[in-house]
Amino acid sequence: MEAHARATHFPIIGSTAGYVCYQLARMIGARRVFELGSGFGYSTAWFARAVQENLAAQAEGEGVVHHVVWDEELSRQARGHLHALGYSDIVRYHVGEAVAALSQTPGPFDLIFNDIDKQAYPASLPVIAAKLRPGGLLIVDNVLWSGRIFDADDQSPATKGVRELTRLATQDSDWISTILPIRDGLLVAFKVGSGSAT
Ligand SMILES: C[S@@+](CC[C@H](N)C(=O)[O-])C[C@H]1O[C@@H](n2cnc3c(N)ncnc32)[C@H](O)[C@@H]1O
Repeated sequence: MEAHARATHFPIIGSTAGYVCYQLARMIGARRVFELGSGFGYSTAWFARAVQENLAAQAEGEGVVHHVVWDEELSRQARGHLHALGYSDIVRYHVGEAVAALSQTPGPFDLIFNDIDKQAYPASLPVIAAKLRPGGLLIVDNVLWSGRIFDADDQSPATKGVRELTRLATQDSDWISTILPIRDGLLVAFKVGSGSAT
């Protein structure tokens, strides 16, 4: 999958950020994961590996990783890759807009990963907060945005979207957030509180 991404110049999270996602999902024992902006399934594979191992460690229950992309062909490729990796029983596929798919899917989730178009980041946060269990984790990719977040002259919708999501997640007391400066920056946000999620 990494060779395919290199050959096609497709923006996957890469092995270092992927491994951190896998580790975090293992650390919280995640069994229900929702991914927004899944591409051909590379980041999905890291989460599916974690869920598969968590299920084995817990010796009970069911696990799921939701794969969502609005491109039919990428979804088809993901089914092939994730089947070959042995994750067919775990992954559920949605073709469509990711935030809409999340709002239509019954939760709550242990972990939500966000890698959609960056201008849509801020509006996705309330939907994510409503679907994540208290004590759950949100991981957001590209929050350093190749350094563009620091360029005051860059007022593009994507860059502003990344800045605003970061501002919301770091200033709202419902989240305990940090930016891991790994690859293009991973925001890791812990959902505080004892309220319910749907
Ligand atoms: C950066 S790539 C994702 C790569 C994937 N997370 C990985 O690391 O393997 C984002 C993918 O999600 C799609 N996408 C972006 N915004 C989306 C949205 N709002 N709903 C559905 N798909 C979206 C893009 O077209 C692209 O295929």
